[in-house]
Amino acid sequence: MPFRLLLKFCTACLVLSAILEGGECGMEKNFFINDQSVNFAVAEQACLSMGFDGLALLKSPEEYRYAVKISTQTRAKINNRWLGCWIGFRFDEDSYSVPWDDGSVMAVDMPYAQSLMALGTERQCGRLRYSDHIGLAKCDETRMSVCGKRAKTYREATGTTNSLLAPTNVTATLMKGKVASYTHCVLSCCELYLCRVAHFDHVTQICSILGPESYSGFQNDPNSTSFIRVTYI
Ligand SMILES: *[C@@H]1O[C@H](CO)[C@@H](O)[C@H](O)[C@H]1NC(C)=O
Ligand SMILES: *[C@@H]1O[C@H](CO)[C@@H](O)[C@H](O)[C@H]1NC(C)=O
Repeated sequence: MPFRLLLKFCTACLVLSAILEGGECGMEKNFFINDQSVNFAVAEQACLSMGFDGLALLKSPEEYRYAVKISTQTRAKINNRWLGCWIGFRFDEDSYSVPWDDGSVMAVDMPYAQSLMALGTERQCGRLRYSDHIGLAKCDETRMSVCGKRAKTYREATGTTNSLLAPTNVTATLMKGKVASYTHCVLSCCELYLCRVAHFDHVTQICSILGPESYSGFQNDPNSTSFIRVTYI
């Protein structure tokens, strides 16, 4: 049976906080469903005025899954005729890309991120659809929304610890360096929303953090332990 880890990182301390199945580890404080149906700009202002950092950024698989779960009923409500909730991204006409509202890039394995094309001439803003997909909608339409706090002190990563496994055909690393232990390596994964695998070599103590689509699989390796994050679906 895989060993499931829920890890919490904070700057002052390193806490291997709990071994839980599906725990949220403080996520409930970081998200809020605003059931007022308003346009994107008004929704963003409402989040700010309630003490959030803006509309929610669903950057990591954990944040995405949590927001999907808490907003399911809200997104299903027929509200005029529009479904779904505003979340924190918009189509940028200048770069023809869809960054999160903090300017960071979307992960390439984000569900349906590849279909985020702006259609027509009206401004397009981020929506978590009724279907759980992430898509765009005209910014002037009215919807309910998900407000979010942007994690500053920790992120979390849910996944499995796999002894004796190393990733194969690694094409890029997000971060690589010597660390004290496997636990430290996994904690580095928690800090990076693009982390999908944290590979620790027990002999060299080198920790490699791999992003989406930067390796092809895994092979047996007596000196390795790999943390494999549970991805979106
Ligand atoms: C590594 O990639 C090659 C092709 O690029 C593929 O044939 C091979 O099966 C891959 N190895 C593993 C262990 O995934
Ligand atoms: C594992 O580590 C030993 C040294 O402790 C080394 O001789 C061996 O080549 C390593 N194996 C692999 C597959 O890297």
